[in-house]
Amino acid sequence: MIVLGVTATNGIDQELAAILGARHVVVEHKLFPDGESYIRIPVDVSGEDVIVVQSTYKPQDKHLIELLIAIDALRDLGARRITVVIPYLAYARQDKRFREGEGISIKTILQTIRANGADDLIVVEIHKEESLKFFRGRAINIPSVYALAEYFKNMSNLLILAPDKGALKRAKIFAELVNGECDYLEKFRDRVTGEISVKPKSIDVKGKNVVIVDDIVSTGKTMALAARKALENGALNVYAACAHALLINNALDLLKNSGIKEIIATNTVPVPKEVKTVSIAPYIAKAIKELYETR
Ligand code: R5P
Repeated sequence: MIVLGVTATNGIDQELAAILGARHVVVEHKLFPDGESYIRIPVDVSGEDVIVVQSTYKPQDKHLIELLIAIDALRDLGARRITVVIPYLAYARQDKRFREGEGISIKTILQTIRANGADDLIVVEIHKEESLKFFRGRAINIPSVYALAEYFKNMSNLLILAPDKGALKRAKIFAELVNGECDYLEKFRDRVTGEISVKPKSIDVKGKNVVIVDDIVSTGKTMALAARKALENGALNVYAACAHALLINNALDLLKNSGIKEIIATNTVPVPKEVKTVSIAPYIAKAIKELYETR
């Protein structure tokens, strides 16, 4: 088995190769003067099982194109089975037509990856698991809660807070893993302006260590709003935990200014040093082993 790192792996390719005892290879990559990507597979992959690793954080389109070029090359070069690991899968939040005429980006992306030659797909904490139906092969979503909960296992008096009802299932699993309680807020997003608000709702967080858990922190507005609600209601400390800490623009400052004590994320995307990370690689490796044992 070969683990092939493309251009945006955040070290997960290396970790996977070490855990799986597989050969680690990195693509040869350069940019042409006009900015176009050049990708070369530097080893013979004919007849090999190849695990291709590429996260799709910013610049998302560039990283996606580089992944597609790599998969296509592997197929041409005779790889036996191509398993694509995308730790952070971009474009997943537009998973339906919220307004008439909108494109469903996750459908476009997953159909393209499959059509290009991917046999299996592994992603981490996709926004909605149902979206994987657009990939017409075996597709696995790795939840991030098991890795995140490890960080809190020695902390007591925990209450896990979902920033919206959609995130409640994740928060419930988290709460069970850390022997904590669980609650949720009711968040609304204006589909045109993107502005968010929280419906007044009483949450019993007095004296608690509150962990707000979400899939993505992008602008940080959701987390900051939820943190303020928790602190207003008497929380002792507030922690932010997420799978993908994208932290665009001034998100980090927004989180710090909202009173959040620590931010904990998995390593699906690179993060600033202020963010504590837990590795998702062991969980991906487990999924790969199961995938190859059950083929
Ligand atoms: C939305 O449904 C997601 O689960 C996250 O809550 C959202 O993407 C966070 O975005 P932001 O950090 O920009 O508020």
